[in-house]
Amino acid sequence: MDRNPKIITYFYKKNQLNLLFMKKIIFFPMCSFLILLFLSCNTKTENKIVENKPYNEGINITPTPQELIEGEGQFTLSDNVVFVSENEEINKIASFFADKIKYSTGYNIKNQQTKPNKNFINLELNADLSINDEGYLLEVNPEMINIQAKKPQGIFYGMQTLMQLLPAEIESTKEINYVNWNIPSVKIKDQPRFHYRGVMLDVSRHFVDIEFIKKQLDVLAIFKINKFHWHLTDDQGWRIEIKKYPKLMEISSKRIEGEGNTYGPYYYTQEQIKEVVAYAKERFIEVIPEIELPGHSVATLSAYPELSCTGKTIEVRNIWGVATDVYCAGNEDTFKFLEDVLTEIIPLFESDYIHIGGDECLKIRWKDCPKCQARIKELGLKTDKDHSAEARLQSYFVQRMEKFLISKNKKIIGWDEILEGGLSPSATVMSWQGEEGGIAAANMGNDVIMTPGNWLYIDKYQGDSKINPVTIGGLLTLEKIYGYEPIPVKIDENKRHHILGAQVNMWNEYNYKPDDIEYDIYPRVIALAELSWTPSEHKNYKDFERRIDNQRVRLDMHNINYYIPLPEQKSEPSCNFIAFIDSTTLEFNTTEPVKMVFTTDGSEPTLTSTVYKTPLTFDKNTTLKIRSVLPSNKMSNIRTISIEKQTYAPPIDKPSNHKPGLKAEYYKGIVTKASDLDGKIPDETEQIASLIEVKHKVNGYTEIFENDYYNTVLTGYINIPADNVYYFSTEAEELWLDGKLLISNAGEVKRFSRADKSIALAKGPHLIKIIRLSNIIGGWPPLWESVNISIRSENEPVFKNMMDSSFFK
Ligand code: ACM
Ligand code: ZN
Repeated sequence: MDRNPKIITYFYKKNQLNLLFMKKIIFFPMCSFLILLFLSCNTKTENKIVENKPYNEGINITPTPQELIEGEGQFTLSDNVVFVSENEEINKIASFFADKIKYSTGYNIKNQQTKPNKNFINLELNADLSINDEGYLLEVNPEMINIQAKKPQGIFYGMQTLMQLLPAEIESTKEINYVNWNIPSVKIKDQPRFHYRGVMLDVSRHFVDIEFIKKQLDVLAIFKINKFHWHLTDDQGWRIEIKKYPKLMEISSKRIEGEGNTYGPYYYTQEQIKEVVAYAKERFIEVIPEIELPGHSVATLSAYPELSCTGKTIEVRNIWGVATDVYCAGNEDTFKFLEDVLTEIIPLFESDYIHIGGDECLKIRWKDCPKCQARIKELGLKTDKDHSAEARLQSYFVQRMEKFLISKNKKIIGWDEILEGGLSPSATVMSWQGEEGGIAAANMGNDVIMTPGNWLYIDKYQGDSKINPVTIGGLLTLEKIYGYEPIPVKIDENKRHHILGAQVNMWNEYNYKPDDIEYDIYPRVIALAELSWTPSEHKNYKDFERRIDNQRVRLDMHNINYYIPLPEQKSEPSCNFIAFIDSTTLEFNTTEPVKMVFTTDGSEPTLTSTVYKTPLTFDKNTTLKIRSVLPSNKMSNIRTISIEKQTYAPPIDKPSNHKPGLKAEYYKGIVTKASDLDGKIPDETEQIASLIEVKHKVNGYTEIFENDYYNTVLTGYINIPADNVYYFSTEAEELWLDGKLLISNAGEVKRFSRADKSIALAKGPHLIKIIRLSNIIGGWPPLWESVNISIRSENEPVFKNMMDSSFFK
């Protein structure tokens, strides 16, 4: 790896150009400037109206190359241009790009073996270059283009860079006639910092078809991502055909959702798997399958319960979290099953690796299982200060599977729990719980792929949770990912080469449709691409942010539903219902610098609507509609904010016989909507002093059983300390104040409320009613959290959990 390249970046050159440009503007009289501007915006060439798009300005190559020197002039694509390549593999790459270029430009770029005088793109292998196997040299001048690399993969990346030197519309699948297909003269020497630049996709929790996967592979290849980690099995579904075990397809590939519908059967046939592997290979992406063991195996155990410790029938899991049932480590049949499965899987993939999972394996069943305990005894595994005997049994399990895979010429990757109880020297560790696992493994001499949750788990929010689709929680902005450094300083210098690279993980619990998956992946994956390709000293977030404007247009050409920053309320949680007494002022910002436009007459904001510049003040009822606009003129979804003038709702007379705290009424069974409780007699009633006393909160590691379900209605009074406008937030089904429904989360996943509301309340007691139901929506059981309500006055920037002292005593 060349860690000390000499670089002349284009930032310097570009600034020089800007200065020149500035001088010219000052020099010319204003009217001629306007004429010039008009001409530069609409230039007529070859009978087409050429529009200079702001996002196509400058150099936009992403990930940014190691060395780039800008030259004079430009090369223009046309029907006269040819590829020159001799090698058969390179010819394939040439025709891959010729096809792409034909779609967008209409030009038919043929391939030939001899060089013409000019107008050609030369693709050439050269074993003597001083770059790594994925690197390339690219030279563009007005006469010709030359791409050299040691290996075909380098040629492929050189061509991707060339595509990125063209206007973003080069990625279009339809012919585009409003851009000039010019490529600026440059000299580039480039190679990746890391050889592992990966994306993991979880297709167990929510499945996607192979067309969706191919679409992602097309796009990931643009950014030189080279590993696709396919998470094929988990508690919630088995997704790969195994001919020897048909019940995996009949039973394990579907589940009955909490809502009652059947999800699936969804799985890939072996033919489809091979098709994806071949498709990825054409794009120089290696596919690494993950078959989870010994935990995350409920889907298998539902079809083959004899492989669990209890042998009892269980259902494919329909809630998220971690299950207690795992493969029995004392049963030889477990190993036979897994070896049979892997024997069928190995020939389908070309990677040297098989990922065996290894994460979050609870040891509860193993502790009570005679077979597992017999195995512990037989192996002489002992509990000591570092590890339990069961942790050592997990290590035995993983190492036994590894030996099997090594016998088949495969290496294993496992999540960082495979360190617990002992790690074999040949295992590669995926560090997810943080960086510590990766640091320990690298210092022990094991290879490591960094994918720490805080930086690279793209199942988190990209902006304010109040206005974005539900996720698992936490905030991970584009900028935070971009700032991640994959080599922690705690790794000894002579062990740093064990960091193979980095990967973002797309867990799909909360991604209910393919569009949701794209919203989470893009554009954040582009930050991963740059941090794993570009040496850290050449990274520059501001410039990356600029280039992302161009990259977003490339994503448009592939019809990708990427995240567009929404207008968020500044310095307070966003809310779509704003009550006020005299007037209210709203201030907005976005997670990336983008324009915002708005209307106040109920109409949809368009490109010509008023641009948001300064805080907006309202003194009468208004519907504010606001959205963001990208430099490409693509607009975000609209936020509709109801702004309502209110008077303070008066307090209620507290009855003299009121008991302190809240009355809790419990109703057994599954209840899907609040109105189903109307007229029902509660199964139990009690008076509680605190919300945490509400019966039946279970923690996320525990299964939920039907008879345990408690629906709860809480009634009483809250004490409002002063006349004010208050904001309420809850994950309960409903919140009522003074006999009126304030918040309804009906039909919503009960996480990170997106239905907050404000209301003007006078000082004193107010009636409150909270309804929490047992209904599982979107895989999230409300019973996994205690009933919560949070409140803030309009002067406070953050919500606080409503204190028990607020409930009238
Ligand atoms: C994981 O996120 N459980 C690897
Ligand atoms: Zn067992």
